[in-house]
Amino acid sequence: MKVRKAVIPAAGLGTRFLPGTKALAKEMFPIIDKPTIQFIVEEAKKSGIEDILVVTGKGKRPIEDHFDSVPELEQNLKEKGKDDLLELVQQTTDINLYFIRQSHPRGLGDAVLMAKDFVGDEPFVVMLGDDVMDDKVPLTKQLIDRYEDTHASTLAVMKVPHEEVNKYGVIDPISEPKSGLFDVKQFVEKPDVDKAPSDLAIIGRYLLTPEIFEMLETQAPGAGNEIQLTDAIDRLNKIQRVFAHEFKGDRYDVGYKFGYLKTSIQYGLTHPEVKDELKAYIKEIASQLD
Ligand code: UTP
Repeated sequence: MKVRKAVIPAAGLGTRFLPGTKALAKEMFPIIDKPTIQFIVEEAKKSGIEDILVVTGKGKRPIEDHFDSVPELEQNLKEKGKDDLLELVQQTTDINLYFIRQSHPRGLGDAVLMAKDFVGDEPFVVMLGDDVMDDKVPLTKQLIDRYEDTHASTLAVMKVPHEEVNKYGVIDPISEPKSGLFDVKQFVEKPDVDKAPSDLAIIGRYLLTPEIFEMLETQAPGAGNEIQLTDAIDRLNKIQRVFAHEFKGDRYDVGYKFGYLKTSIQYGLTHPEVKDELKAYIKEIASQLD
């Protein structure tokens, strides 16, 4: 069955960005000129996704408005002959977006469970707004290609520094990967650094079969007293195979302050309008730093 649907959970409290996230979802924070959620939506579109459900909590309106048309603005840009800006504005409406509220942020697993009716009986992808991915083939497309071969759930993983494994879901691989695909014995959410089964962390893209919802419906709270998607995936792996796909591209974690800053600089260094000035500025301040 073709993978057509994506779920973007965006109902977290974003505590690492307070007070910025008091009224605005962190998914709307711009990297230079584009809200992070737009990078995710563009990856979905390039991967062949047709329908996206955004699970929201607070700060929902700006997300909806961002992907809606703005007739007065478009008319104004047209009259002034600003065709390139008009195109940028219009591109954002070219996707089917749906919204649902998660009234209490009980955890990522609970947010994904909100998508049960939207997903129905199809495989789907979960895309986290915290991770902006860059590779020749979009990561979501890489997972879809895997699914077309295996018809199994597949998560994206990446090696992370050992001392950081306790921030992630981590896999216990059964053996060396076959062409970048791991069989997995166990999925563990936020293991202690000295007990982690590997340094292969689950990053923000998951391709899941609809059976995940049966697991989520009965999932007890785990780490941080939250309903953890990783725990439900571990149970799913006991009844059908769940693979891990190693991502070899660039991942930008925009979910914490320094990661967000790094991503902005990286994107700025490729942005036609600011890259030259930014490069010169970085060189200038670097020479003054001790
Ligand atoms: P995070 O662990 O990054 O949590 O969630 P957070 O609340 O967004 O941010 P911090 O840690 O407080 O700063 C991972 C993803 O899961 C979503 C978040 O929006 C984020 O994309 N999420 C998390 C939900 O949608 N609902 C939840 O109940 C929890």
